[in-house]
Amino acid sequence: MNAVSDGGSAATQVASSSCPASRRAAARVLRAWNIADLRRIAKQRLPRAVFDFFDGAAEDEITLGANRAAFERVRIAPKMLAGVASIDTSTAILGGTSKLPIAIGPTGGIGFGWPLADVGVARAAAAAGIPYTLSTMATASIERIAREAGGRLWFQAYIFRERKMTMDLVERARAFGYEALMVTVDVPVGGKRERDFRNDFAIRFRFTPRNVLDFATRPLWVLDIFRHGMPVLENVVGLAPEAKSTAEIASSVGQFWDADFDWDGLKAMRDRWAGKMLVKGTLRADEAARLAAIGVDAVVVSNHGGRQLDGAVAGLDALPPVVRAVKGKMSVLVDGGVRRGVDAIKAVALGAEGVMLGRATLYGACAAGEAGATRALEILRDELVRSMQLSGVRSIAEIGPDLLAQPG
Ligand SMILES: Cc1cc2nc3c(=O)[nH]c(=O)nc-3n(C[C@H](O)[C@H](O)[C@H](O)COP(=O)(O)O)c2cc1C
Repeated sequence: MNAVSDGGSAATQVASSSCPASRRAAARVLRAWNIADLRRIAKQRLPRAVFDFFDGAAEDEITLGANRAAFERVRIAPKMLAGVASIDTSTAILGGTSKLPIAIGPTGGIGFGWPLADVGVARAAAAAGIPYTLSTMATASIERIAREAGGRLWFQAYIFRERKMTMDLVERARAFGYEALMVTVDVPVGGKRERDFRNDFAIRFRFTPRNVLDFATRPLWVLDIFRHGMPVLENVVGLAPEAKSTAEIASSVGQFWDADFDWDGLKAMRDRWAGKMLVKGTLRADEAARLAAIGVDAVVVSNHGGRQLDGAVAGLDALPPVVRAVKGKMSVLVDGGVRRGVDAIKAVALGAEGVMLGRATLYGACAAGEAGATRALEILRDELVRSMQLSGVRSIAEIGPDLLAQPG
């Protein structure tokens, strides 16, 4: 179950790919020097409606911008003469070893970006030695990911109004050896994602003249869809007959969830799931303390990549009060806007065990599937190592608040 993927580097994947188009795409990501380059390649390959679904956020996208701005505001006071020839990036996340202070967060519907993108991202994570989270809304099933990727697997649950559907998924994750359950709590209803509305992606998916024109500009993407078929939400097939197409779900985020889910419901899930439990989507210190008190093992400080409440505080800005409130009783992870290796240093210095990635590996996967996700992780690892050397820290344990420049 927990075998490690033998995916190798992005360069190895270029050499071993049997499909010329995939080989060309993979070769292209080797010329990507940062996550922004991967985003650019993804944008060139995807129809606008699909790219915007991944890239976009709620309303004025203020929180989306705030996530990035928060990382950019934090400054490091680097230490010199620290003897940094040898660097160890490994650390403990949620009580297990991770080769980087990074884990992959859940992203639904990503098979629209590349055939079986979920498998590609999961295999890239396993090869990099970091945890991977499979979304309820993934385009690969719980079973497929366990079989085809391995590594440290977490399952992210949304709470369906029909609670049994959620519990059936949780049971499947348990049966297939998933190490942890992540409950996302910031989607009582879907956020107002206006790019999707404009692109006809926010309503029940249908082919409109706008979409057909949009798709016509991206023949390679269309060819992939013809070759591999429309992506399927493999976890919910048969569970929610009215919600089985990916596009339908993508366009109706939140429609199936239980907006009445509350602390009692969460406590009941905590009591039923014997493994580790993370709660994703809180931004408040008082809630984090309460989560620790009911036996939740980790909190992911997150605003869902700006896709839910526009105006919500940036994850990184919300992190320090959460860290103070939980007083070491639980693991704290943070996400939102992680695009550089140095971001992980900043988050760890502010008290997180590590960061979670959303769009960073997703852009890579949209650019070239597994090779692209692998490339994204290679970029972030290289940046992290170099930034640790330039900051004068040899291990993750050496990163603390004293590494940060005091404002002013
Ligand atoms: C396309 C897309 C789909 C997502 N799907 C989910 C999901 O199914 N469950 C969830 O908890 N979060 C989901 N998220 C939120 C991410 O897990 C994460 O919180 C966010 O992307 C972090 O911000 P970043 O993309 O700027 O790194 C999704 C994000 C994106 C971009």
